[in-house]
Amino acid sequence: MKRKTLLHIIIFTHLCCCCAAQQQQADTTYQLPDALVTQSGKKISNKTDWEKFRRPEILQLFEKNVQGKTPAKKSFLHFKTTSVNANALNGTATRKEIRVYFSKDEKHHMDVLFYIPNRRDKPVPLFLGLNFSGNQAIHADTGISLSKRWFAYGKEPAYKNHHATEASRGTDANAWPVEQIIAAGYALGTIYYGDLQPDSANSINAGIAPLFYNKEQTKPAADEWGAIGVWAWGLSRAMDYIETDKDLDAKKTAVIGHSRLGKTALWAGAQDTRFAIVISNNSGEGGAAITRRKYGETIDVMNNVFPHWFSDNFKLYNHKENDLPVDFHELIALIAPRPVYVASASEDQWADPTGEYLSAYHAGAVYALYGLKGLPGSQPPNENMPVGDGSIGYHLRKGGHALTPYDWQQYLRFADRFFKQQQ
Ligand code: GCU
Repeated sequence: MKRKTLLHIIIFTHLCCCCAAQQQQADTTYQLPDALVTQSGKKISNKTDWEKFRRPEILQLFEKNVQGKTPAKKSFLHFKTTSVNANALNGTATRKEIRVYFSKDEKHHMDVLFYIPNRRDKPVPLFLGLNFSGNQAIHADTGISLSKRWFAYGKEPAYKNHHATEASRGTDANAWPVEQIIAAGYALGTIYYGDLQPDSANSINAGIAPLFYNKEQTKPAADEWGAIGVWAWGLSRAMDYIETDKDLDAKKTAVIGHSRLGKTALWAGAQDTRFAIVISNNSGEGGAAITRRKYGETIDVMNNVFPHWFSDNFKLYNHKENDLPVDFHELIALIAPRPVYVASASEDQWADPTGEYLSAYHAGAVYALYGLKGLPGSQPPNENMPVGDGSIGYHLRKGGHALTPYDWQQYLRFADRFFKQQQ
């Protein structure tokens, strides 16, 4: 098998975990924290109070207890264009690689790969997302620079000794249907998540986090970020670049992520309101799923297998979901009034499709404060029946844990409603 990439390994883990999830019953006795009641009991009934009191409170609760705080300190940001090909993909697109430096000494950086449709008469809307397997894996285009970074998962021949080989080119193309995105009039920006922080336990100092340490600090404090916070920060830095690029319409940027990178996209979108649409693909526990359902993956399982993703404080809630002062419908509510799309897959029980739907559904109470429509009801739809003609979209794709052209088709249609019909 030529294409033994990270995604195959993740799918395998999911299949195993799904069997476990299927034998499990969701807890249905839980009581969700009310997004519209502050911790001191004040009822929120309009968007002014939401923005003034409850939104900042919920954001702080996530920072303190879940993903951890993102440092306020600014890094020394600058950009260099490292390659341009105005004639990529048979002349339909411009391929551009931008190196974003985070420090003056240029030791820390990430590479953003863009494909921009050549058929354009003004700045174009775009999708921005982190990828798992390196920029060169998203398309067979040999002009994409081969990542020299460390890879947590890739197997030979595409990855050797944790490094990408030429054989990794295009191995993740199914998740990134570039031609489909370009034909729909959108640009795509993507970054290998390992540019920001290796995805392995005890690796926080191998990423960009130390740039933000105080003099004596050797690791983030218990209420400070883990890898998901670092990856989300990277998406915001890509946005800093996008705002400077005249080919791109920064105000029409949809941030997207699959799985752990879906958890990341939600957190990026919750913190950084410049992201105009937020898309969570199969993000599961710590992403879209209601944690109090205790179905599929739980906080304890996730924190044990991936102790580096969230803040150390989040570990205090292992087996104690009901003590968490937030649940994940409130993470989605933080995105209001911006459009949000949550997608699940029928065989991805590990990510709890019903819990993902319910989160998106319950976030609707906050969208309603803006007079915006959420999802139609508390019952999840059938497979391949996208729902939500308001500001919240959802579908349950038939199949397993993956980002597929079917998912993209729905995201493009959703984005069209907000980015194309309001010109
Ligand atoms: C594991 C993990 C999930 C995560 C997924 C992924 O299955 O348990 O929380 O979403 O990996 O990132 O693919």
